[in-house]
Amino acid sequence: MPVLSVKNIHKTYIDQIGSSTVVLNGVNLDLFSGDFTALMGSSGCGKTTLLKILGTLDKPTLGNVFFSSKDLTTMTKEEQSLLRLNKIGIVFQNSNLLDSLTIEENIVLPMILKGINKKIIKNKLNEMLVDL
Ligand SMILES: Nc1ncnc2c1ncn2[C@@H]1O[C@H](COP(=O)(O)OP(=O)(O)OP(=O)(O)O)[C@@H](O)[C@H]1O
Ligand SMILES: [Mg+2]
Repeated sequence: MPVLSVKNIHKTYIDQIGSSTVVLNGVNLDLFSGDFTALMGSSGCGKTTLLKILGTLDKPTLGNVFFSSKDLTTMTKEEQSLLRLNKIGIVFQNSNLLDSLTIEENIVLPMILKGINKKIIKNKLNEMLVDL
């Protein structure tokens, strides 16, 4: 059974003057535990649009995304926030770091929000910085 199942996703952006851009037109995708998947395509083809929908940062115009059988597109904002905190990690092209925090503070912020013990956070941070 897939961990993430994308069913017939459509996304159309409509600008202020009412003209529409169809970006996703019936995308289907199943991802299984342990998968490593690369999404490739020319600039502007809709990779970030799809990623934002999978990460609950945007909603599809039509279609559903199931994460462990729960539909992300009908979750409340609170449920989506918890899912992002606990289950989904996104590294953006433009990094989206919080300017007022140091790199180290940016890294540990999700762990602080989860209430993880300070010593464990410190150890984890040191491990991560070595990996970088
Ligand atoms: N918020 C938005 N409002 C209107 N149009 C948008 C919006 N975001 C993206 N688009 C348009 O949707 C299309 C897909 O954009 P998207 O950023 O998903 O492409 P991409 O595949 O990630 O491109 P790149 O490889 O350059 O990162 C583009 O035509 C873009 O101009
Ligand atoms: Mg992109």
